[in-house]
Amino acid sequence: MVKLTKDFKLKFGPWAVVTGASSGIGEAFAKILAANGLSVVLTARREDRLKKLAESLAKEHDIETRVIVADLSTAEGPEQIASQTADLDVGLLINNAAIEVHGSMFRQELEKHQQVINVNVCAVTTLAYRFGRRFADKNRGGIIFVSSVGADALPWTATYTATKSFVSTMSYALRSELADKGVSVLALEPGLVESEMSAGADDVDFKKFGMPKQSAERCAGVTLKCLARNRLRTTPGRRNTMAISLLRFLPKRMGMSLKTMNTKRAMSPESLTYK
Ligand SMILES: NC(=O)c1ccc[n+]([C@@H]2O[C@H](COP(=O)([O-])OP(=O)(O)OC[C@H]3O[C@@H](n4cnc5c(N)ncnc54)[C@H](OP(=O)(O)O)[C@@H]3O)[C@@H](O)[C@H]2O)c1
Repeated sequence: MVKLTKDFKLKFGPWAVVTGASSGIGEAFAKILAANGLSVVLTARREDRLKKLAESLAKEHDIETRVIVADLSTAEGPEQIASQTADLDVGLLINNAAIEVHGSMFRQELEKHQQVINVNVCAVTTLAYRFGRRFADKNRGGIIFVSSVGADALPWTATYTATKSFVSTMSYALRSELADKGVSVLALEPGLVESEMSAGADDVDFKKFGMPKQSAERCAGVTLKCLARNRLRTTPGRRNTMAISLLRFLPKRMGMSLKTMNTKRAMSPESLTYK
């Protein structure tokens, strides 16, 4: 298990809030934090999974847990998380939960795109507002915004990658705003990571993206260490970092052409059509 420095808990504990803790990267964050002595608030919609995780973490690591079932596609969801943690000394928010929509934009109903924006943008903003203010008031704490390497735009995932541009931008800007308040803000911009999101699509073959798939534990572990070092952003994995550095170096139009070719190869022909 990933070992964090001793003062990690002093700065970012004693409680951490993890959204999307019922699977994938969120679950991995919760496990590492608990193993390092932080108590965790686990939130998502699937209560059975959250309760099972909470029980096992409390038993294994002698920490406290709280489960909050909240739907982040609603305006009430993030407010519930804020109000139901008002009695806790929270030092870390992991703004992780998100949903994806891919394929030609017009194959899905408009409502689906709006739902993606609600979860990935509106809820992320409300949570950053509520917890960021609490951290600034006590001059201590941290926020991890979980974005994506796709934050710089990928065709056929227009809405999803646009929400991730928002998330990265908010993270960089807030980092500067909160720097003199002793609050660290980090953008996690991962490549492919093993999770339900990267496994659950039959119209896209993620292997054809030519990126290695990382374990969720490795991704979360590297990220927490980067937070402790007060980094601006991280894309865990050497090959991912190299690919993303190259894309950032290329002129935008050339980078988009490369990404278009790559994405086209990975998607099924039907998902690229408009109907
Ligand atoms: N996996 C990758 O390759 C990859 C790459 C780049 C970025 N990311 C980012 O990593 C983050 C975590 O994703 P993941 O890969 O770990 O995917 P995942 O396994 O699908 O996890 C998504 C989490 O979000 C929660 N969630 C979804 N809709 C929700 C809603 N309406 N209300 C509350 N919670 C909701 C899910 O829980 P419930 O279903 O129980 O609500 C689940 O816990 C996301 O921000 C994603 O964009 C992932």
